[in-house]
Amino acid sequence: MALYLGVETSCDETAAAVVQDGRTVLSSKVLSQIKVHQQYGGVVPEVAARKHLETINLVIDEAMSAASVSPKDLTGIACTVGPGLVGTLLIGLSASKALSWAWDRPLIAVDHLLAHVCANYIDTDLEPPFVALLVSGGHTQIIHFESYSDGKILGQTRDDAAGEAYDKVARLLGLGYPGGPAIDKLSSQGNAGAFKFPEGVVPGYDFSFSGLKTAVSRTVEKLSQPLPVADLAASFQEAVTRVLVKKTLKAQQDLGVKTIVLAGGVAANRELRAKFEAQSPVPVYFPKLSLCTDNAAMVAAAAHFCGSPSSLDIGVYSRQR
Ligand code: KG4
Ligand code: ZN
Repeated sequence: MALYLGVETSCDETAAAVVQDGRTVLSSKVLSQIKVHQQYGGVVPEVAARKHLETINLVIDEAMSAASVSPKDLTGIACTVGPGLVGTLLIGLSASKALSWAWDRPLIAVDHLLAHVCANYIDTDLEPPFVALLVSGGHTQIIHFESYSDGKILGQTRDDAAGEAYDKVARLLGLGYPGGPAIDKLSSQGNAGAFKFPEGVVPGYDFSFSGLKTAVSRTVEKLSQPLPVADLAASFQEAVTRVLVKKTLKAQQDLGVKTIVLAGGVAANRELRAKFEAQSPVPVYFPKLSLCTDNAAMVAAAAHFCGSPSSLDIGVYSRQR
């Protein structure tokens, strides 16, 4: 039996979890800083780092005691080392290094994007090969996984990430931060055909969302108050989800892969899930909602399926490697 403690501080969630054999969550604690950052309309990196520092030990203690495991039971300590905010990543990594040394357990450095994909191994029997659509606040990619750790990027966004587009459009519509859940919710009351927004024409498996954001902004400028916010949200969401599904299904068909996997915060989106379920000719996996957005269970799962011990002088990275 393998037991990993996962630690995640790449952005504004302080998280720790204990996962058995990469598939069974024994505990998962996520302390969100959303309320702290809401007043600024987005995450303030320095504030986020300070908050992580205040809470990281507590969150790790809670995860360990909720799982009823002691340090000697652990196979290793898995920690997100990037991509993310350097200042926040360093808090989680420093805590993990200290525990690795004090408890004499190996440290496993985990990539945040790979961890999002690995959230799909939890409570399932999923195995590679598959095509993954990774849609988060900072990334939008279609990746072909032939094994647990070898992901080949087939396409990605050339400008804004899908989650970033959600957040920017939500701000434009006065829906606050974070925008994804707000637009998701409001869209169910709107008419998705009310406005025709462009998909962003880029070849192959790449995406572009900045034109869509501009189109929404131009439309808003021309409309009089009160804005038909639900119709705007639903029409924007329709354009985003349509292109995400179309290109992912194209990749799946071109490669002849028999499984599709959704990952990242935007994978929580109800319309995206519904479109895939309605249109995909092959099984589609997506994590349960709490494992789509940032959490530490996915980090522990990633350590189990694709991790190896790291040296204690390892650092963090802000951009994808
Ligand atoms: O994966 P994640 O928690 O953090 C990053 O690694 O970026 O993703 C956060 C992003 C945010 O942009 C947020 O607005 C978006 O995921 N998001 C959603 C939904 N829930 C979160 N977007 C659309 N629909 C949702 N239900
Ligand atoms: Zn994330």
